[in-house]
Amino acid sequence: MKTPRKLGLKPACLPQSATRQFDFEERYPVRIIQITDTHLSPSKPHFNANWSPLAQWVADQKPDLVIHTGDLSVDGADIEDDLAFSANLLNQLSVQVLCLPGNHDIGHMPGSAQPVNATRIDRWREMVGPDRWTYDTDKWRLIGLNSLILGNDSLEEEEQFDWLEDALGEAETRQIAIFAHKPLFVDAADEGETGYWSVRPTPRKRLLDLFEEYEVALHASGHLHRGWQGTHNNTGLVWAPASSFTVGDMERDMPGERILGAAIHTLTDRVKSEIVEIDALSRFVLDDVIEEVYPRAPKAQPAEITA
Ligand SMILES: [Fe+2]
Repeated sequence: MKTPRKLGLKPACLPQSATRQFDFEERYPVRIIQITDTHLSPSKPHFNANWSPLAQWVADQKPDLVIHTGDLSVDGADIEDDLAFSANLLNQLSVQVLCLPGNHDIGHMPGSAQPVNATRIDRWREMVGPDRWTYDTDKWRLIGLNSLILGNDSLEEEEQFDWLEDALGEAETRQIAIFAHKPLFVDAADEGETGYWSVRPTPRKRLLDLFEEYEVALHASGHLHRGWQGTHNNTGLVWAPASSFTVGDMERDMPGERILGAAIHTLTDRVKSEIVEIDALSRFVLDDVIEEVYPRAPKAQPAEITA
C-alpha cells in the first residue's frame, strides 16, 4: 500500500497521544455540536449537497466545539480520496473539531468485505487524526472511542480498554462524556448480538460496567441514522441523527426518529442533550441510491467450465 497523503489539518485533528486541553477560553455553559454520518465523497457525491447547509447551521450556532462521530466519508475504508476530500471539508469549519472514525472510514466486522485492520486505522490516523482521544476542560473529560474494534478480539481492542480504564480513572473530579460511532445497544442493554448495528454483548458489558463504576454522564453515538435519547443506569444515551440520509424500509424498524440533523450537548455541572432536526438538509433516503453508493456484492456466479 502506498503511504497515505498527509493533509494540512488543524491542530485539533492531528494525532495526539496525550490529553489535550481545549484552546478556547473556558466559560460555562460549553456548547458542543455533535455531527455524524456525513458520508462525503468526490466520486459518489450523492450526499455532498447536505454539507453546505450543515456547515452554515453549525456556524450560526456558534458552538465552542464540534465533534464528528464518524462515517465522515462514503468509503474511506478503501478510497484515500474520500478521506482527503471529507477531511478538507471538515477543516473548513471555523470552529475547533474533533473527529472519530466510522465503519465506512476504517472498516468494521471481522469477516465482512471491509474488516477493520491496521492498514485502515493507520490511514485514518495519518490523514484525519487519532481514532481515540481524550480532551479536558476543568470540569469535564471528553473521551472519544474507536468503536469499530470493539468485539473483534484484537490487540488494539485490549489496548483501547486499558487506555479507557486509565482515562476514566484519571478524570479525577471531572465529569465524563464519551463519544463513539456505534451505539451500545439498539433495543435493550441486555440484548444479544445485533451484528452491524451496535456493540457486541461482551464488550458492551465491559463498557457498561466501567460506565457505572466511573459514573459516566453521557455516551453519544451516530451510526443508526436516527435520533434517540434514553438512559442506562445513570448514563445518558444519545444517538445523533445523520446529516446525509435516513434509511427507509430496506432495514428493520428500530427505536428513534428518522430525521436529519445533529445533537447539541450543553455542559455545565451537568450535561443537557438535545436532538435537532435541521430543515435545510435535503431528505435523502439510502434505499433510493443504495446500488450506486453501496452496491452489494454480486451473487456468486457458477464456476466457469473449462475443458
Ligand atoms: Fe453512517
